[in-house]
Amino acid sequence: MFVTAEEMLKKAKAGHYAVGQFNINNLEWTKAILLAAEEAKSPVILGVSEGAGKYMCGYKTVASMAGAMIDELNITVPVAIHLDHGSYEGCLKCIEAGFSSIMFDGSHYPIEENVEKTKELVAMCKEKGLSLEAEVGSIGGEEDGVIGAGECADPKECTAIADLGITMLAAGIGNIHGKYPANWQGLSFETLDAIQQLTGDMPLVLHGGTGIPDDMIKKAISLGVAKINVNTECQLVFAEATRKYIEAGKDLEGKGFDPRKLLKPGTDAIKAKVIEKMELFGSVGKA
Ligand code: 13P
Repeated sequence: MFVTAEEMLKKAKAGHYAVGQFNINNLEWTKAILLAAEEAKSPVILGVSEGAGKYMCGYKTVASMAGAMIDELNITVPVAIHLDHGSYEGCLKCIEAGFSSIMFDGSHYPIEENVEKTKELVAMCKEKGLSLEAEVGSIGGEEDGVIGAGECADPKECTAIADLGITMLAAGIGNIHGKYPANWQGLSFETLDAIQQLTGDMPLVLHGGTGIPDDMIKKAISLGVAKINVNTECQLVFAEATRKYIEAGKDLEGKGFDPRKLLKPGTDAIKAKVIEKMELFGSVGKA
């Protein structure tokens, strides 16, 4: 079954690598990511956004499906199932549904309110034995209709949240969900360094993993990032592989329209992309 993200992130931090959080959207996505992790002998975090949770018929469906897959696919590497950018209510639902990890994104609240709500969730997660990610400074770009400006978090506010007893901290350092614009200034390593200096051993989370140059990813890991979230890049390779299959007319040949065949190139593309990212993050062989 699932494990929390705590142990895997402690190991990542000590070993100077990062664990990937790959967001899931359906059965094929989940299967591809689990098989990739098993092949790469890497720990993995399955990310579920509130929108994806709704799409997949609710958190209970998602937790049951992913949990059963771990069993039936004989997955032996550590797998956490994690709510991505949860609202307070979403967190409560995922705790109830059997998630092993949640993220409370209170970055849009005034810091006092973010602290208050995060504190309540820390107590609940401790009681249930779940890991908890909190956020300070909103991540830029658009996700599930929410647009963030890509702030750089205030390191002092990060300390206020980190000291509450959370497992991991997502802090805005100029990162953006989705594709980066041509005039993007890059990650603020100065902010990242200042946050880590003030938060000690706290595993830091880098959102918006798609499109960040490899050297910046490596530098972020060297400065304390222990979890990196990737979503859009998997969606892009899935769409591209499916498009090629259809444009080649394969769906109209033989039984090529069978969803098992139609979705296979995209599923294989996600698996290959996840393994590529695990290699970059240094988590291969760390399970
Ligand atoms: P990308 O879609 O940019 O990879 O970001 C994913 C993410 O941060 C999920 O929380």
